[in-house]
Amino acid sequence: MKELKSKMGTDIGRAKILLEQGALVAIPTETVYGLAANAFDPEAALRIFEAKRRPSFDPLIVHTHSLEKAAEFLKEIPSEARQLAEAFWPGPLTLLLPKNAKIPDVVTSGLPAVAVRIPRHPLSLQLLEQLDFPLAAPSANPFGYISPTTATHVADQLGDQVPYILDGGPCEVGVESTIIGFEGSKTIVYRLGGMGIEDLAPYCTDIELMPHSSSNPQAPGQLKSHYAPRIPVLIGNLTEMLRKYPKEEVAVLSFRDFYPEVRHITLSPSGDLNEAAQNLFKALRELDKMPVRRILAERVPDYGLGRAINDRLSRAAAS
Ligand code: TXA
Ligand code: MG
Repeated sequence: MKELKSKMGTDIGRAKILLEQGALVAIPTETVYGLAANAFDPEAALRIFEAKRRPSFDPLIVHTHSLEKAAEFLKEIPSEARQLAEAFWPGPLTLLLPKNAKIPDVVTSGLPAVAVRIPRHPLSLQLLEQLDFPLAAPSANPFGYISPTTATHVADQLGDQVPYILDGGPCEVGVESTIIGFEGSKTIVYRLGGMGIEDLAPYCTDIELMPHSSSNPQAPGQLKSHYAPRIPVLIGNLTEMLRKYPKEEVAVLSFRDFYPEVRHITLSPSGDLNEAAQNLFKALRELDKMPVRRILAERVPDYGLGRAINDRLSRAAAS
């Protein structure tokens, strides 16, 4: 435990030195913690895939601190993308844009576009400002498991793989960024996330939601069974499901109601979708430690962050 503690802290200087040496550092963002490395260094980027046991066909998101810095590794920034970036960065929105040769192919799994965003977290923004390179960073969890929303979540699972975890406290948004790309006049949503698509609407004429697929080489992040606890998750009407299963065998994940007769976690007693998103991954981790055979969950209202919550719940249930 003592060793783990020294691995976690707010020492930006230490994070900077490690990253400059090509090592991995876990960084806080407003969405989830990322497992970061120098995005210009193919060997450093490879270490991310190894540490996470992530398949090489699943590309990484590149984090930077200004639109000017992003322009240095992009072929072009279409005007629609520029408007979105100016409106929502720093924030939970990732844009797929054509990369130039500065970004090695290993980062994008050979795809011509790179996923870019400016994260909204003061510690990581300070760190990015001090570095001469952007940071490639997927969520800091073993591949396929639930994304971390605290430094301790990262230490619990990747503590042995990461020399330093920059501790920025609990993540403010709690679900990963919304990923969008552009095709002609269309804006395509590849992953629902921390930025509500209602907020994007005024900036995009034609928004299309990409359906999930279990093997889509265009957007590997769409792998359906993702974000999954080890205990099976069932989604439906809680009252009906509770009639069906023995109470000692289940744990309940509810949106706003309490279920005192069973083990349960309530995401937001006041029915606030932002609070529910903030609590979602932590709740799934806690439920996954309970001595039960099934996790029973219910969907939340399908707007704003509710869409991303429902998306993560169905992916958790898919495996
Ligand atoms: O909020 C977030 O987005 C967090 C924080 C750390 O920024 N990152 C994150 O990364 O969730 P990750 O690896 O868990 O998800 C990244 C997903 C990939 O699974 C992939 O589908 C998509 O982003 N992606 C990345 N680069 C892509 C590309 N060039 N083309 C298509 N999809 C891409
Ligand atoms: Mg991930």
